[in-house]
Amino acid sequence: MQIILAPMEGVVDALMRDMLTRIGGYDLCITEFIRVVDQKLPARVFTRLCPELLTGGKTFAGTPVRVQLLGQDPHWLAENAVRAVELGSPGVDLNFGCPAKTVNKSRGGAVLLKETEQLYRIVKAVRDAVPTPFPVSAKIRLGYDDTSLTLDNAAAIAAAGVSMLTVHARTKSDGYRPPAYWPWIAKIKQQVSIPLVANGEIWNATDAALCRQQSDCSDIMLGRGALALPNLARTIRDADAVMPWPQVLELLMQYSEFEMCGDKSQYYSNRIKQWFSYLKLQYPQAADLFVQLRVLRKSSDILHTLQQALRSPAA
Ligand SMILES: Cc1cc2nc3c(=O)[nH]c(=O)nc-3n(C[C@H](O)[C@H](O)[C@H](O)COP(=O)(O)O)c2cc1C
Repeated sequence: MQIILAPMEGVVDALMRDMLTRIGGYDLCITEFIRVVDQKLPARVFTRLCPELLTGGKTFAGTPVRVQLLGQDPHWLAENAVRAVELGSPGVDLNFGCPAKTVNKSRGGAVLLKETEQLYRIVKAVRDAVPTPFPVSAKIRLGYDDTSLTLDNAAAIAAAGVSMLTVHARTKSDGYRPPAYWPWIAKIKQQVSIPLVANGEIWNATDAALCRQQSDCSDIMLGRGALALPNLARTIRDADAVMPWPQVLELLMQYSEFEMCGDKSQYYSNRIKQWFSYLKLQYPQAADLFVQLRVLRKSSDILHTLQQALRSPAA
């Protein structure tokens, strides 16, 4: 079983990847997407979103981090894919699942699921350009409005030579509403013979087992669940117990200390609040603390509140 940490724009940054892969259980991380339009992007764009490129394309714990690209132009995607591997990315992932309006309006992300031939052209161009030993993977949803093209899209991507296909088992119109339709992945598996990764609605070890059974897929990708439960991968892989809340508070402190002094410090208060929105799904203590944090704007006030929580015997 491979367990992959999902790309999550604005949430799973290098620091989050570092913390979660130190806890362990992950075989691979995919970065937030890099938007490609009509030019070869400078190296700094890649290293800003994926600073791990400067340390061998791996997190501190040694987990490979693959750059994800999003765009609609086969030529420019291919050029930037080559640049990503030249800069040290162990392969490239292509995003065909992003539901954002701004991205879809310019023919990027999930809207491409309506254009099977264009999916083929993109994957083929990138695969032909990237040296063979480097994997080129792709990530799709089941479709845009419906599932009428699911199998055609998967077949086209497979025919174009993709190394691995992650399927977020919902359409763009489904958004993030449960359920994820895991049995659809099993249908895809009957049609294509490339490695598939099942994704969507895995919040605990029981979900993971059910997903693997219903999708007939041994490899899984964890998104929001990995933020709600920081040792989710370990609970699935090694049957570890759920991480106790005081340990989560320690992680929050570590995250705060690094994020506040890093170059993204202006995003700290939004990012930590976003993390809390997932943590409170798993930990009632996070829900209580979030009531206090929600109204705070200043990073120092948030940090102070976390410190108090860490000291309090109720924690
Ligand atoms: C805030 C947020 C940001 C995301 N950013 C990306 C992204 O940059 N690239 C991508 O392929 N998917 C992105 N996704 C989709 C996730 O990778 C994943 O497919 C989705 O959350 C379903 O998995 P889950 O139910 O385990 O969360 C994002 C999802 C969320 C909630």
